[in-house]
Amino acid sequence: MRKKSLDKGLIRKYGSPLFVLDKEKLVSNFEKINTEFNKLFPTIVAYSYKTNYLPFICHSLHKVGAYAEVIPGFEFEIAKKIKVPGEKIIVNGPYKPECELISIIQYGCKINVDNIFELRDIIGIANKFNITIEIGLRVNINVGSKIIWNKFGFNLENGEAQQIVDFISKLNNIKIIGLHTHIGTNITDVALYSKATNHIVDFYLKNVDKIDLKYLDIGGGFCTEMNGLETLGYQSKTKFPCIKDYAHAICNIIIDKLGKSKEIVLIIEPGRAIIDDAMCLLTTITAIKNIFDVHSIFIDAGVNIIPSSYYRKHSIELISDSKEKPIITDIYGPLCMQVDLIDSGIYLPKATVGNILKIGTCGAYELSHSIQFIRTRPAVVAIEKSGIDLIRRKENPEDVISLDNWELLK
Ligand SMILES: Cc1ncc(COP(=O)(O)O)c(C=O)c1O
Repeated sequence: MRKKSLDKGLIRKYGSPLFVLDKEKLVSNFEKINTEFNKLFPTIVAYSYKTNYLPFICHSLHKVGAYAEVIPGFEFEIAKKIKVPGEKIIVNGPYKPECELISIIQYGCKINVDNIFELRDIIGIANKFNITIEIGLRVNINVGSKIIWNKFGFNLENGEAQQIVDFISKLNNIKIIGLHTHIGTNITDVALYSKATNHIVDFYLKNVDKIDLKYLDIGGGFCTEMNGLETLGYQSKTKFPCIKDYAHAICNIIIDKLGKSKEIVLIIEPGRAIIDDAMCLLTTITAIKNIFDVHSIFIDAGVNIIPSSYYRKHSIELISDSKEKPIITDIYGPLCMQVDLIDSGIYLPKATVGNILKIGTCGAYELSHSIQFIRTRPAVVAIEKSGIDLIRRKENPEDVISLDNWELLK
């Protein structure tokens, strides 16, 4: 547990609001996943860049052995810039422009093909360069989860995935070496992973003569701590699975059906389970009002930098020595929109202007979904044993307007 004085000192030095990365936690989250899965089955853990692609985070994980799961575009560029070799990059996504596909193939990445138009481009590249291209196929499977992820890949149930395997098996320069699926995010029911794994392994077994399987990629989606469960449609006493539970749910099916084959590796692509609780946001109280008798505090961080406030709750702690009894509090951000509400109806000790709030589990999908709106994005610091480093400076107004053509206005 960090000292309150440290949080205050960080704000004084780097400004408010401020994202704070706990590097040890980041690395230990990765290592735990890596260890628990590899105890059961040979597994590659590929960090999903979209969750939070700060180069410092991607690089720290690369250094401890994580592969990179990227989408074409700047995520791929970051992976190359931090020198992740091609064989350690898994490329997903429903849009892979042809010119980017060429460099992805030349760099030697693993590609999970999403649709027939992408496949058409890959066949074109194989013909043009007179090469054989190895691919993975993204398969979408209805596992019965509340939120259905069916926009990606080839569908299993309606026979589309089978048709595409049949088609590719007749080509002599495209080889299927991987099967991929990703069933959603923040999945608390590990049985859904067993179902997905079961279906995808059965699909492979039906096609052993057409697929030279080197990897089974079951995607990410492992959950992290969620406060205010009722608001998310869960029972308040829901027990969250731990990494071991996910590992058993997935690996036991593979072992049952395929044995511990030396040729096949499991790939998983966790994002939030690695970064979410390794990052928090420090923010300062700027005003206090009583709105219809509810103690309402205003902070300098809005939904533009904590966009998940729209749909989830975070742990929120007042960094003060206040001995006051907690009272019901609403927390508003600084944006000129009524929906800029960070949380409501939570118990906090009565605060005063200038106090700091620590908002926990801010690592996943906050910065990467953040936008410039009224306020710019804050700085990010990393804390590790050796000290504290600024890993991204705060945006300034010049960053917001630097892309515009000011020549036209002269
Ligand atoms: C293909 C793929 N892999 C991995 C992830 C990471 O998911 P999570 O952050 O829930 O682990 C995502 C997120 O949507 C994804 O689309």
